Amino acid sequence: MTSQTDTVRMTDAALDYLREHQDQHLAQLDAFLSIPSVSADPERVADVRRTAEWIVDELSRLGIERATLHETSHHPIVTGEWLKAGDGAPTVLVYCHYDVQPADPLEEWIRPPFEPRHENDRVYARGAGDDKGQLFMHLKAVEAWMKTAGRLPVNLRFFFEGDEEVGSEPIEQFISDHAELLQADVCVVSDGDTFDDEGTPAIGHGLRGIAYWEVKVHGPRQDVHSGQYGGGVDNPANVLVRMLASLTDADGRFTVPGFYDDVRELTDDERAAYASLPFDERAWADETGVAQPMQGEAGYTLRERLSARPTFDVNGLWGGYSGEGSKTIIPAWAAAKISTRLVPDQDHRKIERQVVDHLKAIAPPTVRVEVKVIHGGAPALTPLDHPGVAAAARALEAGFGTAPLFQRSGGSVPVVAALDAHLGIKTLMVGFANPTGNFHAPNEWMSLRNIRDGMASLVHLWAELGAMGADELRG
Ligand code: BES
Ligand code: MN
Ligand code: MN
Repeated sequence: MTSQTDTVRMTDAALDYLREHQDQHLAQLDAFLSIPSVSADPERVADVRRTAEWIVDELSRLGIERATLHETSHHPIVTGEWLKAGDGAPTVLVYCHYDVQPADPLEEWIRPPFEPRHENDRVYARGAGDDKGQLFMHLKAVEAWMKTAGRLPVNLRFFFEGDEEVGSEPIEQFISDHAELLQADVCVVSDGDTFDDEGTPAIGHGLRGIAYWEVKVHGPRQDVHSGQYGGGVDNPANVLVRMLASLTDADGRFTVPGFYDDVRELTDDERAAYASLPFDERAWADETGVAQPMQGEAGYTLRERLSARPTFDVNGLWGGYSGEGSKTIIPAWAAAKISTRLVPDQDHRKIERQVVDHLKAIAPPTVRVEVKVIHGGAPALTPLDHPGVAAAARALEAGFGTAPLFQRSGGSVPVVAALDAHLGIKTLMVGFANPTGNFHAPNEWMSLRNIRDGMASLVHLWAELGAMGADELRG
């Protein structure tokens, strides 16, 4: 058993280590960010694998045992473990993803996305915030403990995924096949953001789910002259946009029958919690570059709509002629990528079917409609009264010098619901990216301050959780 004063001393030594090695660590972060691990791009398969191998090597170098690259139906998953914290010590599963979003449009990057740029106390690169930067912070927090104390205050297992940005297809199978590698009292997911860009950290307590489809409307055998055939041949592009437009009503609600059946309404307390968080709508709109926030679903505030309510979006729309000048045709087909964000207790599988059935049902007999499910993931809420939450709050306050606020995120991280459903493992969402850090966009960045304070928070987090018994942490 380690005494409290020993823990304080060891924590301080680990924090000193991070300070002393900061430059070296930032250089190494650049090397990690330079590998283009774009999971969506078939031409990057080898780079994605190289990134997984890089992590395996790092884990091994740190003294993490059984660091392993697992083949999956898609990109590799990396696991590893260090289980020598002693009798009764809790085991924590750490999850991050090492894949990144495609970097286009490339011309909008000030420097190429995989050549990290340091400016204004920020590192700019694809994956800086989402999520390689955060994964890297975990590696360094572990390194700090291992290089100073020679041990960790908790048992840690690692679960690093390479398919998060494309729907996490392999994880359910992996979780059920490898439960023994993931067994833990709690999971820590670092794949979200802090509360603001001024150094207020956050503990996440919700994520939206997602369901994603491709819709294709087919008309004439091939493009036809719109003068010769217009008025007689139904235009697939007209039909598609009519169908898509009919999916939301005047109150900003999605019109597919049954869609809201399982939506858990916000309680008065939850609404009060939303209302109590500082939020400047004008600044939010300016930062985003929109004239004003959209109307959205009637009866809900902007903040509520951004994370506690489902939404519908057209992600892409194409077909027909889009070249220079004009071409007078009725196109043979038109297509769209569409998605919904889901909230508890919506079931993405049920919604996937409902939308397919609905689109087929509303298609006019003049066209043929094809609908493919692309991916889906379940929404999640994590309990705020979980015993690990208070420990995480103390760790974040120690690292950032400011107490965290609690927020629900509008984004999706499918593993959170999957770990709960398959293994009963609850998650603490401790994210370090900057909320305006251009996730999925050109010039993605993370502040060096969040990297530094976040790594310090992780050093504290392992000490805080290590001071709890496994039974206590499980709640
Ligand atoms: N890290 C994000 C999700 C996120 C964003 C959490 C902001 C908290 C705050 C994650 O990498 C992501 O982008 N997920 C995808 C999932 C999808 C491809 C299944 C998403 O939300 O679009
Ligand atoms: Mn992410
Ligand atoms: Mn992402």
